[in-house]
Amino acid sequence: MAGVPMDQRDGWIWFDGELKPWKDAKVHVLTHGLHYASCVFEGQRAYGGEVFKLREHTDRLIASARDLDFTIPYSADQIDEACRQVLAANELTDAYMRPVAWRGSETISVPARENTVHLAIATWVWPSYFSTEEKLKGIRLMWAKWKRPSPETIPCKAKAAGLYMICTLSKHAAMDAGYADALMLDYRGLVAEATGANVFFVKGNEIHTPTPDCFLDGITRRTLIGLAKANGYTVIERHIKPDELGQFEECFLTGTAAEVTPVSEIGDYRFTPAKACRTLIDAYAEAVQPKRAAAE
Ligand SMILES: Cc1ncc(COP(=O)(O)O)c(C=O)c1O
Repeated sequence: MAGVPMDQRDGWIWFDGELKPWKDAKVHVLTHGLHYASCVFEGQRAYGGEVFKLREHTDRLIASARDLDFTIPYSADQIDEACRQVLAANELTDAYMRPVAWRGSETISVPARENTVHLAIATWVWPSYFSTEEKLKGIRLMWAKWKRPSPETIPCKAKAAGLYMICTLSKHAAMDAGYADALMLDYRGLVAEATGANVFFVKGNEIHTPTPDCFLDGITRRTLIGLAKANGYTVIERHIKPDELGQFEECFLTGTAAEVTPVSEIGDYRFTPAKACRTLIDAYAEAVQPKRAAAE
């Protein structure tokens, strides 16, 4: 389906409690979520017919909405069930899934307590295109000019649409300069995350990753920390300054979409994806399979 616009595909989208034909899942232009970013979402993947860590994603969606001062009018059980329903309706087993909740169009000014809250869930095929060997070449990142804001500036734990404005700007700048992505610092100048993924650095048997105190504590990130420990690595969550990057041998990104993606370059720093990247790519690929996920 590559190249088909996202609003022109075939299939079903779960929309406010019912399955709607894909092309009919629309909102009005005077939607609060569109004008004022009162919108939160999730990105999750199904493997072998089951959404990996579904309840964690659903709980984060509900918490993100709460951080933006609105309540999704469905329980976690109902949202989980809707996710399963939309996967089955589209006859997919291995797919990306996007639940999104937003304030509607009853009023269009800053206050919006009266506006209804909507929930839609779409799913589509978004495979990991690269083999492990291909991935191990690593991707090139440049430094982003935009900084992750302070927790006093914005509800930084929410997976909120508004927080992605600087991600899109940073990603565009990186792509324009020939890079795959950008690595963002935070408001203090510390290493934070990429535009849609968390970052890890490897030094011998140690894996260092920034403390998620002003950016998304990814579900993949947390999974990877567990897998790294299970594979004998010592994981250190701490504040990392950009000028420390020279001491690390390997680097990789983690995220639902990115899974485990080795990095070969960040600005002037070079990394060589090797044993840790290979071990953790394989460990993650195994962990997401339904039997393993259920046993975790
Ligand atoms: C900005 C940002 N950071 C980190 C992540 C990784 O989060 P997760 O592993 O829960 O997908 C994502 C993924 O959506 C993201 O968009």
